[in-house]
Amino acid sequence: IDIFKNSKPHNCAFSELPKDKGYAQKEGFRFFMEKEIYEQAQVVTEAMMGRVIKGGKIKFDELDAAMFEGIDEVVLCACGTSYHAALVSSYLFERIAKIRTKVEVASEFRYKEPFLNKNSLFIVISQSGETADTLEALHIAKKAGLRTLAICNVDNSSIVRMAGSVILTRAGIEKGVASTKAFATQVMVLWMFVVYLANLREVISARMNSAEISAMLHIPQILKIKDGLQDKIYRMSKHYLHGHGFFFIGRDIFYPLALEGALKLKEISYLHAEGYPSGEMKHGPIALADSNLFTVALMPKHLLYEKTKSNVEELAARDAYILAISPEEPEIADDFIKTSEQSHAMSEFFEMMIILQILALEISVRLGNDVDMPRNLAKSVTVE
Ligand code: G6P
Repeated sequence: IDIFKNSKPHNCAFSELPKDKGYAQKEGFRFFMEKEIYEQAQVVTEAMMGRVIKGGKIKFDELDAAMFEGIDEVVLCACGTSYHAALVSSYLFERIAKIRTKVEVASEFRYKEPFLNKNSLFIVISQSGETADTLEALHIAKKAGLRTLAICNVDNSSIVRMAGSVILTRAGIEKGVASTKAFATQVMVLWMFVVYLANLREVISARMNSAEISAMLHIPQILKIKDGLQDKIYRMSKHYLHGHGFFFIGRDIFYPLALEGALKLKEISYLHAEGYPSGEMKHGPIALADSNLFTVALMPKHLLYEKTKSNVEELAARDAYILAISPEEPEIADDFIKTSEQSHAMSEFFEMMIILQILALEISVRLGNDVDMPRNLAKSVTVE
């Protein structure tokens, strides 16, 4: 039988597929980093799945609560972006879980002959689970008999296998060398763990517990990127291609966010950027202020707004160029990105995080750099 006998001719159109294999995986985004920035609402939801119980408490099926009995100190240890997540959580551990907290850079910790207290909980944070310095720090803590917990994105990685307990961050594969979604899930999981520990230690009121939980459940909403935001940042980014450097400044949890914003920028733009506590600028760095110094000021409404504002005014008085990121525009801002009014500082944190990631991305694109594979950097540093 000739099956084609009565068939009509079809007009087929052919088009050439993109040669870049990554194109399909990038789902239409220009870069993996960009795609990963946009995935954050989703991965943060995954990180909370089955762990954050609406109207209830935090639950980690992977943890044995008995492990935390008698803990009187938390020591966090990590590198790079993961170190910044650790710094953010150190404010939360002390404020919410009422526990003394220290943060260590893994490459420093391993050689400092650290004085270790048996009642410390030693937490390592790592996206890859393979960072040599973090792995060695974990090894030292284990050898000293400390209880250890890894917060990691890659199951079955070396760090996951070595740690006493593990919480996986569930960010999915992160390809961009500059970490974005892994950071968002690390901060989220650490915040969840803080509230979990606060409950075990019975130091959190029912009211505060439910306020924290509803704030957490609101974060995916915050992480949905609003129409026009990237375009606005793209247009603004042309102001930042020259100059002699950037200071990202903030207070409290916005200080480690400033460090992370500066790290993102230097990683992919190769411009000099530093993160600094706003209140510390007057002790030296303000000497650098002139019209070619860019200041990116994180000015949340609910955390020391007036204090940060007066630090920013001091810089503006020395003619520094100010980009203010805030729900409220300070008069002295040269550029301004308005964030939404929020009642919880962590909501402001995540909204500003996205802005800093996109700012770094757009500056890097304008400079013609390879956003996903910046020079001299590796996604995972498995050697010293
Ligand atoms: C490398 C990466 C950074 C990362 C750091 C720690 O330097 O380029 O983006 O933050 O390692 O990696 P980890 O996998 O331990 O989080």
